[in-house]
Amino acid sequence: MASGRENFGSSTAAVLAMAGSAIGLGNIWRFPYMVGSNGGAAYIIVYLLLAIFLSLPILLSETIIGRSTASNTFGAMEKLAPGTRWKWVGLLTIVSPLIILSYYSVVGGWSIEFLWKSVAEGFGETSPELFGGFISRPWAPLVCHTLFLALTAGIVMAGVKSGIEKFNNISMPLLFVLIIVIMVYSISLPGASEGVEYLVKPDFSKLTPSAIASAMGQSFFSLSLGVGTILTYSSYMKKDADILASGFGTAAFDLLFALIAGFAIMPAVFAAGIEPGAGPGLIFETLPYIFGTMVSSWAALGRIVSILFFLTIVVAALTSSISMYEVGAAYLVEERGMSRRKAVALIFCGTWLLGALCSLSFGPLSGFKLFGETIFNFCDKLTSNFLMSFGSMLFVIFVGWKMKKSTVREEITNGGKLKFSSKIFGVVYFFIRYIAPVAILAIFITNLLA
Ligand code: PFF
Repeated sequence: MASGRENFGSSTAAVLAMAGSAIGLGNIWRFPYMVGSNGGAAYIIVYLLLAIFLSLPILLSETIIGRSTASNTFGAMEKLAPGTRWKWVGLLTIVSPLIILSYYSVVGGWSIEFLWKSVAEGFGETSPELFGGFISRPWAPLVCHTLFLALTAGIVMAGVKSGIEKFNNISMPLLFVLIIVIMVYSISLPGASEGVEYLVKPDFSKLTPSAIASAMGQSFFSLSLGVGTILTYSSYMKKDADILASGFGTAAFDLLFALIAGFAIMPAVFAAGIEPGAGPGLIFETLPYIFGTMVSSWAALGRIVSILFFLTIVVAALTSSISMYEVGAAYLVEERGMSRRKAVALIFCGTWLLGALCSLSFGPLSGFKLFGETIFNFCDKLTSNFLMSFGSMLFVIFVGWKMKKSTVREEITNGGKLKFSSKIFGVVYFFIRYIAPVAILAIFITNLLA
């Protein structure tokens, strides 16, 4: 173990950090729409099963590698499989989160701009063009991206305990309070029940293979799998922490938040008589329109709720972006001997530049295409459709086939001390070794054919 390495202060802090990484834009702008358009409660059941039987084995695999080595992704591979090509997996999973961070920070920047707009003037009779007009300007989005990335860098610079742990300990409870307040408001709007029905009414006929494959993709993105963030955070976990319980806790918080976000957003959308959508359009066009055009008795509240809503998005995005930043910082400090300050500065330069290109791809660089996609979309597709599942596959294969079974058992059961984990170890191992790799391959193929 690298000397002077920090740890999270408690198991709760570790779970909050992992849940912080998991809970982010994905929960807010994609999950509610996917539930509604793919069969409501039927989709939620499938999503839950996938989370338990597929995503959890991947999450546990990353946790086992991280906690057993107490190293960054590259160092972990070098410790467990010295001198082999596995180190490339370590390197790949440093690059992928930094690519995600670059474009995620651009969206984080938009959220800051919209938070500011909510506070300063509200949305009034906002036209849907507001958003398109904002992101295609060259400078303002760049400034906001810089601000978001600087906030992220500041937290990471403060260290694992005084920066990341402290920020998550405060932010995670705050996020739940905020989203619950928004949900209560949204459900109480006249005409909201249609939105509730949209989310819960089960329709099993909508569960097509492609709906299931996209649920898996959503689950990976939402739980931050396959890009080394969970591995890195787990490397700061104490040796007596219960890996299974932490994994369940993280997945449960993530799903719970996604569901509450659904009930916070869709009832308001239906109350305003608008067709729901997903992605940036939902958050930055539909919702500001709703906040700005609430019927008179709700207008003042609409303003407050819009402030709370964009604050939720900024904080949720920050708890995710710090996890991506930390993957690179841990590597540079531990493997390249850099000071934390220098590591943070170097990552800032690289991700700022790529993020700037992503940001400009909505304006001056919109004509520049990579494989037929704008730079922003290319980075998004490369990571969400490919690198995350590829990394997840490599992690489960590593734990299921390359690591010694006794080491895996030792980690999951804390040397036999955890009775429940010892009892179900066989099942967990079976899922990591056989089920997860096959299922991930199935997503790959479905995505390729789609
Ligand atoms: N889980 C985050 C979300 O749902 O928005 C996104 C994310 C965070 C992806 C961290 C990857 C990552 F490493």
